[in-house]
Amino acid sequence: MYEIIDKKVLNSAVELMVVRAPFVARRCEPGQFIILRVDEEGERVPFTIADFNREDETVTIIYQIVGHTTEVLSSMKVGDKLCDFVGPLGKASELKKEERVLGIAGGLGAAPLYPQIRKLREMGVECDIIIGSRSEEFIILEESFRGLGCNISIATDDGSKGVKGFVTDILKDKINQGIKYDSVIAIGPLIMMKAVVDITKPLNIPTTVSLNPIMVDGTGMCGGCRVSVGDETKFACVDGPEFNGLLVDFDEVINRQGIYKKEEEHMCKIGLGGK
Ligand code: FES
Repeated sequence: MYEIIDKKVLNSAVELMVVRAPFVARRCEPGQFIILRVDEEGERVPFTIADFNREDETVTIIYQIVGHTTEVLSSMKVGDKLCDFVGPLGKASELKKEERVLGIAGGLGAAPLYPQIRKLREMGVECDIIIGSRSEEFIILEESFRGLGCNISIATDDGSKGVKGFVTDILKDKINQGIKYDSVIAIGPLIMMKAVVDITKPLNIPTTVSLNPIMVDGTGMCGGCRVSVGDETKFACVDGPEFNGLLVDFDEVINRQGIYKKEEEHMCKIGLGGK
């Protein structure tokens, strides 16, 4: 059993949970994910690793309360225990010692981006961060990125903080200012990652994207996370979740996500979206 050590409400829709999971905490690397089950009858749901502490043997996840499992997680308290917490799964991020990297996070994408940027900062890489969100309320981890000594820019849909507009408006601005990035890591909604790649691809800026939004069971069995990367067919949960964004067929995965969203809504409506 895996004890909940800490829990925080980050905003009206998003929570952070710290879980004691010694095996995962000792082995995980940025970019990987876990699959948890709240109890014996619970569904297995993948969550990206938002942070880990090898000494305390803890792993942090951040989730949006959107379906049955996250509603149950939200109702659990510090001291409660999760039945399964399996991992680390997926491939670790390939992080290189470069001069300057740009991290772009949309919404919850800030969670898996954080451990990558932490590692890059430990390697001495300069990191600029762009955080995009609906409004100020939904910006997460801004202070955590600031604590790593990153330059932060913010874009909100309603202009309640930072630039009113999209992360890509800031990206274009930075490029127009002549700032040179050795690589870009973009994690967020598929539409956002596609828009980032539309800018970085013609400039040939290596861009890594994370396809965790299309994972369903995270086990390699359901086929729901199939994606074309260049000439190859890959599975986000086994071969990723991170891929060379310049090669990902985003139109294909955006279509697939639409299909699953409808199914998930239907499952929730008929009461099957969970245990
Ligand atoms: S999420 Fe089911 S096969 Fe990858």
